[in-house]
Amino acid sequence: MSENPDAIILGAGAAGLMCAAQAGQRGRRVAVIEAADEPGRKILISGGGRCNFTNLHTAPDRYLSANPHFAKSALSRYTPADFLALVEAYGIAWHEKTLGQLFCDGSARQIVAMLGDEVAKGGGTVHCGHTITDVAHADGLFTVTTDQGRFRAPALVIATGGPSIPKMGASGFAYDLARQFGLKVVEPRPALVPLTLSGEEALFRDLSGVATDVITRAGKASFREAALFTHRGLSGPAILQVSSYWRKGDPIGIDFLPGRGTGWLLGAKQDKPRATLLGLLKDALPDRLAAVLAERLALGGMLAGLSDAALRDAENRLADWRFVPNGSEGFAKAEVTIGGVSTAELSSKTMEAKRVPGLYVIGEAVDVTGWLGGYNFQWAWASGWAAAQAL
Ligand code: FDA
Repeated sequence: MSENPDAIILGAGAAGLMCAAQAGQRGRRVAVIEAADEPGRKILISGGGRCNFTNLHTAPDRYLSANPHFAKSALSRYTPADFLALVEAYGIAWHEKTLGQLFCDGSARQIVAMLGDEVAKGGGTVHCGHTITDVAHADGLFTVTTDQGRFRAPALVIATGGPSIPKMGASGFAYDLARQFGLKVVEPRPALVPLTLSGEEALFRDLSGVATDVITRAGKASFREAALFTHRGLSGPAILQVSSYWRKGDPIGIDFLPGRGTGWLLGAKQDKPRATLLGLLKDALPDRLAAVLAERLALGGMLAGLSDAALRDAENRLADWRFVPNGSEGFAKAEVTIGGVSTAELSSKTMEAKRVPGLYVIGEAVDVTGWLGGYNFQWAWASGWAAAQAL
């Protein structure tokens, strides 16, 4: 097999399919090369099978990158409303679950089918099950050799994602390829990932399965969502969010009673002097969590018998309980990867490599990482769309 399109796109994931569809519909002949047997496998498992395909609150400050301004251009030119219009044009039913997160009512398969139809509409071809054996660049042409053939084009788009969930075939292929072309890569690390606890804090692992609404903090970032205790440590949306900002050795803070004003415990001492701390915690939190926190605070007996200083101290600890995770569950469980091909190497308008004309990098492979909640797909759509306008 030999094909000579206008552009070769490596990876039939979210970004690659969007780019292929748009470029094709602009009249470019595109060939997409995919290692897996089917396109869009991460889309299929996303959002618990319902694909949280965008977020209404998309804004550049909800993305992490060495250059926080980089994502602005692409995000402003292809918005959540643009993707939603496409979803609606295909009659795909959707709903807002929470915090601006839009999900399919039915199945993520509808999103993959829609993107496949869009690629076909533009006349693009998708070649699945290809193992790429070589990528070369000479005389203004990129040549991609696979176990099944050879593709040659003046433009090459790297859309092979990041290394999270290696059991699905994810790898650092994009970074290796970028380095081959002399592009710098910001060190990748797992993000949106459960954190693990050991030592003293292992006690909290006994709460496996307990979930509660909290505020989590790491550095300047804070999130109010659910946290979940697991047999290895901490998970749930609030923890996944904060994990992206967490660095090994740093603490994370958890407010177990968000919304309580300063002095609430002293107020309780006045209003209910015969109440116990355990009783108060049980009124607000799952019983097992209340018991562990009360045990740690070691303030037994009625509130009336406890000093104001001790109650103030307990209140402060409950509002900012410090955990020092000993690690994370790594790329095996990370929803995305922070880091990737350095934004300093790319045009924020077209995603083209400044030093290698004709080479583009889009999607998760780039050092742009969104919050949990549809932000990462929105980046994939927007960066894929931006590159497609330039192909
Ligand atoms: P993506 O990973 O989608 O695509 C890359 C493609 O390249 C894949 O098809 C892969 O097989 C292919 N490939 C890799 N190496 C190759 C090679 N050597 N040769 C050829 N092809 C190769 N985000 C969100 O916004 N909402 C959500 O609901 C979720 N849910 C979610 C759940 C889970 C379990 C995970 C792991 C991730 C999410 N995400 C998410 C994140 C989201 O899936 C991710 O950000 C996008 O898929 C990134 O899109 P890309 O196209 O960049 O990579």
